Amino acid sequence: MLPIDGNRLNARLEAFAAIGATAKGGVNRQALTEGDRGARRLLAELALARGFEVFQDPMANLFIRREGRDVTLPPLLIGSHLDSQPAGGRFDGALGTLAAFEVLESLEDAGRATECAVVVVSWMNEEGCRFSPGCMGSMAFAGGEIPQAWHGKVATDGAGFGEELALTLASLPEAVMVPLGFPVHAYLEVHIEQGPSLEAAGIPIGVVKGIQGTRWLDVTVTGQTAHAGTTGLSWRRDPLHALTAALSGLYGAVMPDDPDARFTIGRISAEPGSVNAIPEEVRCTVDMRHPDPQRLDEIEELTRSRIGQEAERQGCLVQISRSFDMPPCVFPEALQKAIGQAARDCKVESVPMLSGAFHDALFVNRVAPAAMIFVPCRDGLSHNEAEYVEPSDVVTGCNVLAQATLAIAATAGTKAGP
Ligand code: GLV
Ligand code: MN
Ligand code: MN
Repeated sequence: MLPIDGNRLNARLEAFAAIGATAKGGVNRQALTEGDRGARRLLAELALARGFEVFQDPMANLFIRREGRDVTLPPLLIGSHLDSQPAGGRFDGALGTLAAFEVLESLEDAGRATECAVVVVSWMNEEGCRFSPGCMGSMAFAGGEIPQAWHGKVATDGAGFGEELALTLASLPEAVMVPLGFPVHAYLEVHIEQGPSLEAAGIPIGVVKGIQGTRWLDVTVTGQTAHAGTTGLSWRRDPLHALTAALSGLYGAVMPDDPDARFTIGRISAEPGSVNAIPEEVRCTVDMRHPDPQRLDEIEELTRSRIGQEAERQGCLVQISRSFDMPPCVFPEALQKAIGQAARDCKVESVPMLSGAFHDALFVNRVAPAAMIFVPCRDGLSHNEAEYVEPSDVVTGCNVLAQATLAIAATAGTKAGP
């Protein structure tokens, strides 16, 4: 067993929650902002103070390495992300990153050698709310390249992706630059469940079997702006009328007809945005989720056809593009078993479960065996400033990560693998 320092970890979570803190007790540390850079800086400073090697890749993924016995073996990667939603909680991402760093420090405190190196990672832009898509850092790491289309992306606040990425990389000159992607033995990520089932069952650990699929659409409906007082119904080409009529039908169909489906409009805008003018153009995002990729296709098709029909009825034009397509994934059984065993070693109950949220582990799983450990959060609430995890659950999650890290690092270089 590897003892961890639970007080240190909970104090670190407090310290990081002060970076980008919001009035309601959450954080706004969206990717590649000053807050995100501040959190990366603090983590790098803590790592350098412990004598760990700190490096980053061209996507501003941040890595902290503690060497293993055999320097030639691919490392075990553990971590999560430090960016947040605009009205985000202090645990989504930070918990997994800081629990991973706690494991690294605990190994160092105990003078414990591991067969392969253990590398903590903080992935860039997991959330995808400022720059779409989500999981940019892990997606590029797994794909070995930065997709061309990303360079010209513009943030929701008007900032350019290329400029913000360059500023973020330059803000950490101490971090040695390495090329994108490297061989990995395995990847482990602790995360809050972001849903209610662990808390409801009173079980402190979820062993994640896999992640449901996510698809994002960008929708633009264009009509004709005109006077609100003088334009009668038959003269109107109102894109907001078209969009809201379609959305009302979709809200009434997608989730009520299929309990596994998720359908969310998180962002909507109307231009020119005048109280007394019919909008010229309305835009919205669509977030669709389902464990079955075929159902995702069907929900997308329904969304496109309903919006198309209503737009036609209103004499409007429609443009719909996919900004994110993440098929569901299944994590390797051997790693799920290792996490279940780690929970038993820690004498805590665990339960297998599917993740409703997407995570960087999904992309890493394309190039190395990956797995996730969930801990409960209060009322299942996440992507909300009120997000809360009991300090004892933080410690339990980190303990299970520590034991799983020891067990999986020990399989490095063996024939059986992780
Ligand atoms: C991750 O942040 C998600 O939206 O699932
Ligand atoms: Mn997260
Ligand atoms: Mn999130």
